[in-house]
Amino acid sequence: MTAVRRKSNTPPVSASPFPYNPGSLLSVNDLSLDELNHILERATALEKQDPLTRDRILIKRRVALLFYEASTRTRTSFELAAKALGADTALVSNLSSSIEKGESLKDTGLNLRALGAEAIILRHSLSGGAWLLEESTRLPVLNAGDGMHEHPTQALLDLRTILAHLVPNSGKSVGKKVGPIAGPETLAGVTVTITGDILHSRVARSNMLLLPRLGAQVLLCGPKELLPEIAVAETPGVRIERDFEAALSRSRVAMMLRIQAERLAGLQLDLDEYKAGYQLTGERLARLAPKAVVMHPGPIIRGLEITGGVADGPQSAILEQVTHGLAIRMAVIERALGAGRTEKRV
Ligand code: CP
Repeated sequence: MTAVRRKSNTPPVSASPFPYNPGSLLSVNDLSLDELNHILERATALEKQDPLTRDRILIKRRVALLFYEASTRTRTSFELAAKALGADTALVSNLSSSIEKGESLKDTGLNLRALGAEAIILRHSLSGGAWLLEESTRLPVLNAGDGMHEHPTQALLDLRTILAHLVPNSGKSVGKKVGPIAGPETLAGVTVTITGDILHSRVARSNMLLLPRLGAQVLLCGPKELLPEIAVAETPGVRIERDFEAALSRSRVAMMLRIQAERLAGLQLDLDEYKAGYQLTGERLARLAPKAVVMHPGPIIRGLEITGGVADGPQSAILEQVTHGLAIRMAVIERALGAGRTEKRV
């Protein structure tokens, strides 16, 4: 689904009404470059701010976390981010709520709104779940992963990680009027290879939509079972490279993905064959990409898509990604509740 872009003095360019709420973040495509830069700037400013003043920004505002799927990083960082801004949070999980009794997503959302929730952070196994919830509640909805579709805050924290490594001054422009952090050429000449279970990956999709807008070339790598040709049909700046070693040798960033066993639906994979073809080992990294930044959204499966040595090694930015997630999520929660926002939806 494509978000409508509205300027105040021009008619809508698309029939799609989404997002209904300007604070929502359903897709990375909801964000103009101005808004993207605003989020990156606010992430840095909020990260630097004294916690004792930062927690006045959203004091006593109410944020609901609605999680229908397991999560460690996303759920924890959204909750810590909301609390760091002073908001009250309530967690509703499918395992300990009336969702178990059959309550629908729409009714759950309406009840959270009736309880005073001002924004909902949603993870759902249904691709499009965040759009459904936003349409039902008209609240700001932050998509924390919808099925095999999108995970926009993961792509934003991945971008912040890439910028921190490849564009070192990107976090220092805040308040200095030195121009945007991210523009159409910011990642020109940078190749990002995403390897693994692309078919089931909302992380891959959001990164495929975001990184080429900043000039990066995205290579997708994996066997045809996990990466059908259709996955990249007509996506500018994105192409398939089946040969992992060829892709790695061209990469400044090697983003590895877990095989999502919970979504394979009977698909059989020979894991020894997979590892032989696509595992990121210390030997491959040293030989083919000794300067590449190694990334992974987590959870990592050591010894499958990546060796423990690479995950813990000097090229790994995996835990830095997690830390960047906290700053990014502070910025998008602040935006959702209308604090710190500049109206620049171009
Ligand atoms: N990257 C990510 O979404 O991790 P979690 O599933 O633990 O939230």
